[in-house]
Amino acid sequence: MSNQIQFAHYLNTMGIQLWKERLSPELQTATVELTESGMTESPSSIPTSTPQMTAEIEQPVAQPKVDWVDLETKVNQCTACELHKTRKQAVFGVGDRQATWMIIGEAPGADEDSQGEPFVGRAGKLLNAMLYALKLPRENVYIANILKCRPPDNRTPSQEEMVQCSPFLKQQIKLIQPKIILALGSVAAHYLLATDTPIGKLRGQTFTYSDTNIPVVVTYHPAYLLRRPTEKRKSWQDLQLATQVLTHQPS
Ligand code: URA
Repeated sequence: MSNQIQFAHYLNTMGIQLWKERLSPELQTATVELTESGMTESPSSIPTSTPQMTAEIEQPVAQPKVDWVDLETKVNQCTACELHKTRKQAVFGVGDRQATWMIIGEAPGADEDSQGEPFVGRAGKLLNAMLYALKLPRENVYIANILKCRPPDNRTPSQEEMVQCSPFLKQQIKLIQPKIILALGSVAAHYLLATDTPIGKLRGQTFTYSDTNIPVVVTYHPAYLLRRPTEKRKSWQDLQLATQVLTHQPS
């Protein structure tokens, strides 16, 4: 599949139709082909990067390795709450430690608990597609969760668990200094913004994280989008908002 056709596939996965008229003839053909073939989601065929896109990534500058190593060790060895007893492993976070975009979810699920990486299950495949629709390979962002360990049966994290675990995330944000945070779902949004306003009202606005100037944009959790695909359009609007916020940020 050519890059352009792959891109059309991602837009299609996101349920984005409104882009059609802006697509090149090749993309239009590809989108029609994908729609007609009934393909709405194809996790296994979604790569996490493309050679062309990653080839342009600048060489990383020296990083404060000691802090990261120390932090990761602390997360892996953490026994602060009961979740350490039922986890297979802690899920630290993944991606570019100098990323512009930081994506924050709720907590690891079963796939993440097994593989030790956030967003690797079905929701993760959709997240990859969402990012790709923004021309952002997964490797170019940093992905983490509020909780580093899986709550049994994927139950919602308790307030106590979030309070105990969130210093790790706070430290990750401090080390990365992202230019934008995308909060996925109400649990992440509520915790990061210290609010209980319904997610539908948080969308479409820009907030800042804690006492920093880092902008936060809220969108639906990909797992929710899998259950309610008609909401993908709103999520796409949120991603566009985040892109605009980033474009208008002073450098
Ligand atoms: N859902 C989340 O919020 N995080 C993950 O890592 C996976 C699913």
